[in-house]
Amino acid sequence: MMKPQNFILFFVILHLFAGAGSSPTKAAGGHWRVLHHNIGVSATHMQLLNNNRVVLFDGAHYGPSNLTMGAGNCRRHRRNNKVDCTAHSAEYDVATNTIRPLIIDTADDGVWCSSAAVTSDGRTFVRFVQSDGDGNGVEAKVRTYKPCSVSNSDSDCFGEVMDVVLAARRGHPRFYATNHVRPSGRHIIIGPGRGSLFAYEFFPKTQSVSSTKLPISSNNNNNNLYPFVFLNTDGNIFIFNNNRAILFDFVNNKVVKIYPEIPGRGDSTTYYTSAVLLPLKNLKSNVGVEEEVLICGGAPKGSYSQALKGNFIRASNTCARIKITDQKPQWVIETMPQARVMADMTLLPNGDVLIINGAEAGTAGRNLGRKPVFQPVIYRPNSKDGEGSRFKLQNPSSIPRMYLSTAILLRDGRVLVGGSNPNMKYSFSSEVAFPTELRLEAFSPWYLDEEFSNLRPTIIYPPNDTKLGYREKLTVRFTVIGNGGGGGPIAKDSVSVTMVSPSYTTNSFSMNHRELVLEPERVTQIVQNVYEVEVTTPAFRNLAPPGFYLLFVLHQEIPSEGITVMIG
Ligand SMILES: *[C@@H]1O[C@H](CO)[C@@H](O)[C@H](O)[C@H]1NC(C)=O
Ligand SMILES: *[C@@H]1O[C@H](CO)[C@@H](O)[C@H](O)[C@H]1NC(C)=O
Repeated sequence: MMKPQNFILFFVILHLFAGAGSSPTKAAGGHWRVLHHNIGVSATHMQLLNNNRVVLFDGAHYGPSNLTMGAGNCRRHRRNNKVDCTAHSAEYDVATNTIRPLIIDTADDGVWCSSAAVTSDGRTFVRFVQSDGDGNGVEAKVRTYKPCSVSNSDSDCFGEVMDVVLAARRGHPRFYATNHVRPSGRHIIIGPGRGSLFAYEFFPKTQSVSSTKLPISSNNNNNNLYPFVFLNTDGNIFIFNNNRAILFDFVNNKVVKIYPEIPGRGDSTTYYTSAVLLPLKNLKSNVGVEEEVLICGGAPKGSYSQALKGNFIRASNTCARIKITDQKPQWVIETMPQARVMADMTLLPNGDVLIINGAEAGTAGRNLGRKPVFQPVIYRPNSKDGEGSRFKLQNPSSIPRMYLSTAILLRDGRVLVGGSNPNMKYSFSSEVAFPTELRLEAFSPWYLDEEFSNLRPTIIYPPNDTKLGYREKLTVRFTVIGNGGGGGPIAKDSVSVTMVSPSYTTNSFSMNHRELVLEPERVTQIVQNVYEVEVTTPAFRNLAPPGFYLLFVLHQEIPSEGITVMIG
């Protein structure tokens, strides 16, 4: 038992602690946990679905993986005629922390280096659209993935293969392209990546397929990989490639705006860098919404050719931020506490950005990176403290996450981290600099620390998979046990609501990642520990393209577990 005077002191401290700012201490550096020591495949691509499962995969050309397909399923590889009875794709069930193999029926290299997005058909299941793959004509394919409800390990989820991508048929293979969901709910697929033209097309396909060479295409084919694509509030799309960005009207096939180049960057390419769209606010009307893009790290000019010679140049330690909706947009440069190439950037439910994975030297590509960066860093976009202090170093992992690593946000606020394989095949030998990584890990940011569990909201209404319209009132009911400082209800201005779209993440870019901040209009206490917050959903499709989002309630910046909602 505490002595009475200690008890009082305890409360005073607790009170000071909670009263100091609008939220608890952010100094805590989060914690890491290895979820699986061997998931059998290297998580080169990851996507969270609305059934709380993650689809992940690597390349079928890697050779046999450490995960058998089971039930006697095997396939013969067209290129070398070898039989492979292992899976190169798996489904991770977050709730039960279990893995099961998925069968992708391919005689080729699989769905490696693909681009993808979740469809927005409004059904209770979500379809996973897969364009691309590597070599032998698979670049012309779209695969849909319908989450299987069966629990046996040999079900074939990637059943539907549609050979529909016209542009690929016409000699523009889609390899390292980027998908983005359009306001209509259809997808735009941009860039053949490694190919001669910077063409784009739509899925489901329309008659017209453009082979327009956009003014950001590099003549060096290797420099058009995975462009950074974000939907702008005016319905046009922002496309960043190499060191150049445009605003593109894909309806009229017209470049609307050319952005200035990032100063002092040379021709550093998207392939080595990472980017994120910062959370959008004031979405109740369709005017005056500001959109900002943040691009971090990368390899300085010449890094690639130097790395081929064994000279691993220090990566960039800067981030460049631009308000893409401005009349005269300018890049603002900020300095990170570390240099980083091949980072992953993930939006957290509280509006912060997690910069994670990657290396301090060298570049992306086979065996060209050195000095893994073990410490993630949190970037706080709205921190007024000034340059530099927006970055908060986090606790380190012990696992190098080099080329082909991934990180995605889960509904419980953790970040799932996997992958890393700078080798041509699976290689577990100590002779390679960085063996193929089969461990799956989770990073839990500070807000998941045990000491904040009393402050954490739990959403009790609406139910999962609720359908939302645009610009409509939404009431979210939640519970909070504690208020952070003695008796009384929680402070109304300590509550907020966000929506985050789960991304398709690969090669340092999270496609379709978007966070919408819904400002609370009213917070009401219903009974003790039970509250309601009223918000307005985003005003129109350009702000929130139709689809599935995770909706979070935050109390003192501590997020609830997200519920799944469908908008549009
Ligand atoms: C992959 O599987 C083989 C055979 O079961 C095993 O010897 C090896 O240790 C596994 N590799 C890893 C990294 O788990
Ligand atoms: C939503 O689904 C999750 C995962 O199944 C569950 O834990 C949670 O209670 C559900 N939330 C609501 C409000 O139904």
